[in-house]
Amino acid sequence: MEVSDLWQVMRIDRYSFSTPWSEESFLREIQNPSSVTLVATLKSREVVGFICASCTAEEAEIKTLAVRADMRRRGVATALMKEAMRRLYNQGCKKVFLEVRVSNTAARRLYEKLGFRIVGVRRGYYIRPEEDAVVMSRDLYPPDRQIDS
Ligand SMILES: CC(C)(COP(=O)(O)OP(=O)(O)OC[C@H]1O[C@@H](n2cnc3c(N)ncnc32)[C@H](O)[C@@H]1OP(=O)(O)O)[C@@H](O)C(=O)NCCC(=O)NCCS
Repeated sequence: MEVSDLWQVMRIDRYSFSTPWSEESFLREIQNPSSVTLVATLKSREVVGFICASCTAEEAEIKTLAVRADMRRRGVATALMKEAMRRLYNQGCKKVFLEVRVSNTAARRLYEKLGFRIVGVRRGYYIRPEEDAVVMSRDLYPPDRQIDS
């Protein structure tokens, strides 16, 4: 993800979430050396999806992920997640966590398919609308042991 991608990233973000990130939040991620920020693009750098993740000590967190509505269900999020996990592993991360709305069936299925399992619930974690978060996690492996499920 580059600064010049942000107008497209933020358009997808605003469409996808009720509490989109500010430009400053994306800029902080891009500039943070322990973050992994990726975009999926078509020709002419047309952005169709993005992911932001970060690594602290040996634990990583997927902070946000979205795919443009007309490009969903084609494996874009799967590709972004796999590449982010590969890079997080190479940065020394051993485990990755994420939060997802209880009602977000699409994302929960995606994560389950990638080998994530539920490890907890955060009550009232989300606003607009208020909702619990499911906390999911999986271990990270070297590329030749990557579990795709
Ligand atoms: C969740 C999201 C990122 C998935 O992106 P995507 O590119 O469509 O995902 P993929 O094509 O890689 O899907 C992989 C698998 O996830 C599951 N999945 C994805 N979308 C689904 C849906 N709408 N309903 C049910 N399962 C779904 C399926 O198992 C799918 O595999 P399949 O197509 O072979 O059945 C996308 O729907 C999105 O941007 N949603 C809004 C933002 C969001 O919720 N982000 C996650 C926040 S935690």
